[in-house]
Amino acid sequence: MALEVVRYLIEPRRWVKLPGDWQAVFGRRAPLAVEIGFGNGEFLAEAAAQHPDWDFVGFEVSLTCLEKTGRRLARRGLANVRLARVDGRFALRELFSDGSLARVYVHFPCPWPKARHAKRRLVNQDFVRTLAAVLERGGVFELNTDVDWYAFEVADRLQAGGWFVVHGPRVLSREGPGTRYERKWRKQGRRVIRVLAELRSPAEVNRIAEGKMPHARVNAEVKREVLYSLVGLKEVWPKGAFAIKEILFAPDGDSALLRAFSSDEGFQQHYFIAVAKGRRGWIVKLDGATVPFRTPAVKRSVAAVAAALEESS
Ligand SMILES: C[S@@+](CC[C@H](N)C(=O)[O-])C[C@H]1O[C@@H](n2cnc3c(N)ncnc32)[C@H](O)[C@@H]1O
Repeated sequence: MALEVVRYLIEPRRWVKLPGDWQAVFGRRAPLAVEIGFGNGEFLAEAAAQHPDWDFVGFEVSLTCLEKTGRRLARRGLANVRLARVDGRFALRELFSDGSLARVYVHFPCPWPKARHAKRRLVNQDFVRTLAAVLERGGVFELNTDVDWYAFEVADRLQAGGWFVVHGPRVLSREGPGTRYERKWRKQGRRVIRVLAELRSPAEVNRIAEGKMPHARVNAEVKREVLYSLVGLKEVWPKGAFAIKEILFAPDGDSALLRAFSSDEGFQQHYFIAVAKGRRGWIVKLDGATVPFRTPAVKRSVAAVAAALEESS
């Protein structure tokens, strides 16, 4: 990642306090806006340049998009934007406290047209509830799309919770958010449709991540063959799951890394759990190089590894 890009990147997985302290991130108190799936960052850069008195946070899952957008922000010398590589649905709920956002933008999300993919669509019941929690009263959610039926579905979903006053869907006769996808669809003769929702009555939302690092001591001597037996350890429960997929031993044999996979209501993470011999016995903790968000499934995986070691040692 180029150096000029790095100054825009934030790594909320490492934060010890969640939701985040955005005043500390930006070094000031200013209205805060979020864009989810910013693509090549055209909108984010333009909005930040137009509103130097606002702060903007962008979430993307594509590393290439982060790099391209970081370069764009650097070229324009913008100081009021930060970018993170996190699923925007999870980030919106876990990184912002109630009523802390003035605007949330989504431009041309994939509509996932096939019925069997419908649950991948961004604007679902949980997302709408999250929006209604993190937006301030009067705060606005804006979505632009080229797909009529999707615009109506989004408007219906936003209406359903009773928290928003919904405007649209409305066809934009002139320029929309100015993104790569807007240009692409307009070139193909497609229309740009906007849905706006203004928050009237806030909702409550249940957050699941915390800053504290889980760890556990094992009150027994841990043998190598017992460590091997951890591969395949897994638990599945209604809201989540974890599995230990692989073990990697350090050359001295006194520590190992367990490659783990977890899911919390569909939010998936990959990380390593370290099992190491210290001065006061064996300890099980998250490895510092691949820190995941500390969700219920992640915490349960650390506890389960410690329990399994204790039982079989
Ligand atoms: C169709 S593109 C639109 C990009 C941009 N908004 C534009 O209008 O040109 C959708 C973008 O959303 C990103 N994306 C998809 N799901 C996401 C999620 N859950 N969180 C953050 N970004 C996401 C994709 O990586 C992709 O860059």
